[in-house]
Amino acid sequence: MDLSRRHFLEAGCGVGLAGSLGACVSASPIPAAPGMPDWHLGYRSAPAGGFDPAPMTLAFGKVPADLKGSLYRNGPAQMQYGDEYASHWFDGDGLIHRIAIEDGRAVHQARFADTKKRREEQAAGKFLAPGFGTLGDESFSVEGPDDVNAANTSVLVVNGELLALWEAGSAFAMDAATLETRGPKTWRDDLKGMPFLAHPKVEPDGRVWNLAVGGERVGIYRIAKSGQLEDFGMVNIGRAAYIHDWTMTDRHLIILVQPWVNENLRPPVVAGFEWQPEHGLQMLIVDKDDFSNQRWAQAPARMFFHTGSAWEESDGTIKFDVVLYKRPILGVGGGAAEIRGEWNAAAGDEHGVLTQVVIPPKGDASLVESAIVGGEFPQVHPQYRGQQRHLTVLTTGVAANRPGTTAITMHDWASGDRATFDFGATRMVEEFLFVPKSGGSSEADAWLIGTVLNLKAGTSEVCVFDAAHVSDGPVCIWQADYSWPLGFHGTWA
Ligand SMILES: [Fe+2]
Repeated sequence: MDLSRRHFLEAGCGVGLAGSLGACVSASPIPAAPGMPDWHLGYRSAPAGGFDPAPMTLAFGKVPADLKGSLYRNGPAQMQYGDEYASHWFDGDGLIHRIAIEDGRAVHQARFADTKKRREEQAAGKFLAPGFGTLGDESFSVEGPDDVNAANTSVLVVNGELLALWEAGSAFAMDAATLETRGPKTWRDDLKGMPFLAHPKVEPDGRVWNLAVGGERVGIYRIAKSGQLEDFGMVNIGRAAYIHDWTMTDRHLIILVQPWVNENLRPPVVAGFEWQPEHGLQMLIVDKDDFSNQRWAQAPARMFFHTGSAWEESDGTIKFDVVLYKRPILGVGGGAAEIRGEWNAAAGDEHGVLTQVVIPPKGDASLVESAIVGGEFPQVHPQYRGQQRHLTVLTTGVAANRPGTTAITMHDWASGDRATFDFGATRMVEEFLFVPKSGGSSEADAWLIGTVLNLKAGTSEVCVFDAAHVSDGPVCIWQADYSWPLGFHGTWA
């Protein structure tokens, strides 16, 4: 590949250049250009059969020699039947992707999770199941949460088993090589159908913790690296707050009880939420060794979707990072306008702030805001989860003329430094994950891997950055011959 990075990004791959390449830039809005490519590409349905394995083209750069594994991703990918659009982004059927990387080559494939919801809606050719933002059709029988499970939010690999995750029902087991659906995962006979949240936490040694949410009572899973359930317990969080994510240190689970409350959970679920800022953002801190050993902390009222990771200092102070909003977002609207191809810049004016929450051993928590406004999908180095650390990578860059983000930023909590690479208005940027370099000895010894939708070329791409040099731009980019819809979360295995 003899194209220079600049040449490639300006011309070879059709990017509208934004910011200054190679420098630390803060995201700046890009004015709408004549002939701006259609961002609605990111919200179009995938083919019903998914995507058969297809090699991607190395379009730029040199692939790191030690990069070998699979990037799995999940996201809603059935957005439309005929002229009817999905009512909420959270209700589209989950499409599970695998991008297998070996010897410098990348092969993409994807399959929809084969759920009852998907089978019946495909057969009928229309949306039927009730959901987060969907009332549903009376003809659709619902006996339990898994009957409406969209399996569309994230993925987890435990002991080689791939799981497609949703919020309010079981994980769906998939074949990690073929992506064939095996069915709902039962961790223990008496827990059949118990929800398994889409944001499990994995300790550096491989033990998995997760929550079961669906009201005031929250279940806690502790799962060994082998995939065996070691423990399951229940705690009471006091009110039916929306829990999408949570965090933990090496010793404690921290369940964030945001003041966005839904006491009835009837479909469409989102219509039942109330913003109750008088409660503040409460946090239940649970001892990993004794779930009955609990304490509460309180911060000002905020809404959130995603945390980074937490740690504990020697005096018991807990710190973690999270993207906080002053009001709920993705509520009743739920991305429905974007799914239809409509977008109103003014409606997107509530931007999240990457924030560090500091919980002292006693007393109220404080919020330390970073300068990063408009970021999401924070990620940390997997070997530092629950441990003291200073790096967080997240998507950033608010585009002026479309939804979605344009950039990734590495934020250093210790120095306050941040390094950004902005792809510009013609690429929609998704979550990036840390992949430890072989033989690495620090948080920065990692590759960052993520997906980007190149609107100008009309193709999806997989990009790799050096975590220590984000502002230098990608070290390599593979390009598919086609595009797939924007998704939510992934994992590296
Ligand atoms: Fe999420």
